[in-house]
Amino acid sequence: MPEPSAQLIVSRDQAIGRIVLNQPDKHNAISLDMWRGLAQAVDDFQADAQVRMVLIEGAGDKAFSAGADISQFEKQRGSQETIEIYNAAVAAAQNTLQGIAKPTIAKIRGYCLGGGMGVALRCDLRIAAADARFGIPAARIGLGYGLDSLRPLVQIVGPSRAKEILFTAKRFDAAQALAMGLINQCVAVDQLDATVADYAATIAGNAPLTVTAVKRIVAEALRDEAKCDRALCQSLVDACYTSEDYAEGRRAFMEKRKPTFRGR
Ligand code: COA
Repeated sequence: MPEPSAQLIVSRDQAIGRIVLNQPDKHNAISLDMWRGLAQAVDDFQADAQVRMVLIEGAGDKAFSAGADISQFEKQRGSQETIEIYNAAVAAAQNTLQGIAKPTIAKIRGYCLGGGMGVALRCDLRIAAADARFGIPAARIGLGYGLDSLRPLVQIVGPSRAKEILFTAKRFDAAQALAMGLINQCVAVDQLDATVADYAATIAGNAPLTVTAVKRIVAEALRDEAKCDRALCQSLVDACYTSEDYAEGRRAFMEKRKPTFRGR
């Protein structure tokens, strides 16, 4: 189990791993240590066989995250050398999150901006409260936004919406985010905890081999056909059909009971 730290709270509740971005007095702005801790926490959850899905949220009720911690930029993202170190830590966190084989959910209240959006976009699902606000203010700060940062946004909302979000640097409310496909669900503020808990428990209770195969095959489906690993996709599907869980799923259905899946 990862060590909890002040700015990043990492815990596990049965099959659900939880990461809380915890700088509420800065709207959960993400410091360099948090970027590094995020990569480590996600790696640890991937390695923990008990964990079947991962939830990421912000502390308090004001923000998921207002992006990278700008107060550190002068010292830690201000010169060629420090920009490279900083950006490598951001990329490592985001790539690790995107690469985890287990399903992930971003639970979003309030501001979800810049690097906070980057984190949410690397999750498989985004479930937001009606008070959520989304945006990428890079063009207001003059930050560069590279291919690896833009690709997940373009894949989720499409090129025209991605340009709208970046060109304008405006904030979009939860209803707009839902309409553009940026989030999966928008629920009343007082329904967010229950909705996310239900999604997390449902996903964690489903057959892990099926769920992780779908995650990987969706990633393959987004690649060019020429680069798409069909053999891998087929082997993941075959592994489902030959699994104990598939036998358990069939039996449980016939016996009218809830299946107990073991991920093998
Ligand atoms: N980095 C560092 N500190 C941040 C921050 C960030 N990304 N976002 C907010 N904060 C801090 C503010 O500086 C402020 O600190 P202070 O109380 O010491 O002055 C505190 O969080 C509260 O923010 P404040 O601006 O007073 O709240 P608000 O409700 O008026 O506005 C935001 C909220 C999110 C709209 C505004 O803080 C903002 O625009 N933040 C920057 C967002 C951004 O550009 N993110 C991309 C970073 S690459």
